[in-house]
Amino acid sequence: MAASFSTTINTLNTQTLEQVLRQLQTKWRELKWAVFLLVLTVFLYAVVYHSASLVPNFPASVVPVVAAKQENNNIDSIEAEDRKNLEEILKEASMKDKKTVIVTLMNQAWAEPNSTFDVFLESFRIGNGTNRLLPHIVVMCLDDKSYSRCLDVLPRRCILLRTAGVDFSGEKRYMVGEYVKMMWRRIKFLRSLLKLGYNFLFTDMDTIWLRDPFSRLAADVDFQSACNLFFNGNFSDRQHNEVNGGFIFVTANHRTVKLYKYWYKSRLRFPGKHDQDVLNYIRSDKYIKKIGLDMRFIDTVDVGSFCQPNWDITKVSVLHGNCCIGQSNKVKDLRQSLEDWTIFFANGKRERKFRQPMNCQRSVGWKPQRNHKRRG
Ligand SMILES: *[C@@H]1O[C@H](CO)[C@@H](O)[C@H](O)[C@H]1NC(C)=O
Ligand SMILES: *[C@@H]1O[C@H](CO)[C@@H](O)[C@H](O)[C@H]1NC(C)=O
Ligand SMILES: *[C@@H]1O[C@H](CO)[C@@H](O)[C@H](O)[C@H]1NC(C)=O
Repeated sequence: MAASFSTTINTLNTQTLEQVLRQLQTKWRELKWAVFLLVLTVFLYAVVYHSASLVPNFPASVVPVVAAKQENNNIDSIEAEDRKNLEEILKEASMKDKKTVIVTLMNQAWAEPNSTFDVFLESFRIGNGTNRLLPHIVVMCLDDKSYSRCLDVLPRRCILLRTAGVDFSGEKRYMVGEYVKMMWRRIKFLRSLLKLGYNFLFTDMDTIWLRDPFSRLAADVDFQSACNLFFNGNFSDRQHNEVNGGFIFVTANHRTVKLYKYWYKSRLRFPGKHDQDVLNYIRSDKYIKKIGLDMRFIDTVDVGSFCQPNWDITKVSVLHGNCCIGQSNKVKDLRQSLEDWTIFFANGKRERKFRQPMNCQRSVGWKPQRNHKRRG
C-alpha cells in the first residue's frame, strides 16, 4: 500500500520535472538575449564605476604616493611617478647598513592628535635607545585625513594606500568587513616592499617601543613574529606558537616574496578571515615547507602585549596594546604604561612595575591568568 503510493508520487514527479525542463528550454531560447544584455550592462557598470573611483579626490597640492587598485597584483601596477616617490621614501628611510625599514599603518581615528599615533611616536622619544629608530619609520595611511596628519608630523615618511570603494577612516572593530579588507591591503603592500628588496619590521601602531627590538631579533631569519597569546619556549615551534601579525620582521628574499604571494592568495580559500588567522592556518602546510621558509617566534618577554598577564619592565622591548576594545581604552592604558616606564627609567626605581591595563581588561571582560599552577 505504502510502496505503490510512493511509486505514484515518483512517476508524477518525473513527469512534472520533464514538463518543467521543456518549459525552461523554451523560455531560455526567448530569454537568452535579455540575459546576455543584463550581464553586459553589469560588466560595463563595473568597469566605469571602478575607473571613476580611481580619480583622486584630494587637493592637488597633496601628491598621492601609492594609489593601487584592489586587484592589481604587484608593484608594476603602481603608476610610474608614485613608484618613484615610494622608492625615494624607502631609500631615505632605510637603515644605512641594511635595506631595512619600520612600517606601520594608520587611519583617521589613530591619527587624531593625542591618540595612537602620538603615543606611538612619544614612546620612541622616551624609550631607551629608540629615538634613533624614528627616521626609519614609514607610515601607510589609509585615508586622506591620516595622510595629511602624517605629512605634518613625519614629512617624507608617508604613503597613501587607497583601496577602491572602501572607506577606512573610522575606528575599526575586530572582524568588521572593511577592517578585514584593510588588513589584506596591508599584506599586498608589504609584499611589494619585499619585491623592491626592502626588509621590513611591520608594527601595529598601538604599540609602545621602550627598547630597541632589533637586538632581540635573530639575524638571517626569513620571517620572525611576535606570539599571539603565549610563547611556548621554543623559537622554531610553529605548531604550538601562533603568529601575531601586529609585529613581524621579514627579510627580503625569494622565499619571503613567495610566502607573501601565497599568503595573499590564500585569503580566497578562507573568505572573511583576516590575514593573521589565514597565516596561522597555512603556517606549516606543504607549500610553506616546500619553499623552505625559515620562521621564528619572538619571546613574549621581548615583545609582549596586554594579552599576557604581566611584563617585566626591566626587559620588555615593545608592548602591544591588543586584547582591548575601544580606541580610548587602548590609548589610556598605553599612556599609563608610558608613564610607568618614564618613572622607572628616570630614577631607575627597580621596584616600579607596569600597572595593569584596567580599561582594556574591562573592555574585553577578561583578565589574563598567570598560571594554573599558582591557583592549585
Ligand atoms: C592628551 O591626553 C591626556 C590623557 O588622556 C590628557 O591628560 C591631555 O590633556 C591630552 N592633551 C591634549 C593636548 O589634548
Ligand atoms: C639603557 O641602555 C643602556 C645602553 O644599552 C643600558 O646600559 C642600560 O642598562 C639601559 N637601561 C634600561 C633601564 O634598560
Ligand atoms: C622546537 O620545535 C621544532 C619544530 O617543531 C622541533 O623540531 C624541535 O625539536 C623543538 N626543540 C625543542 C628543544 O623542543
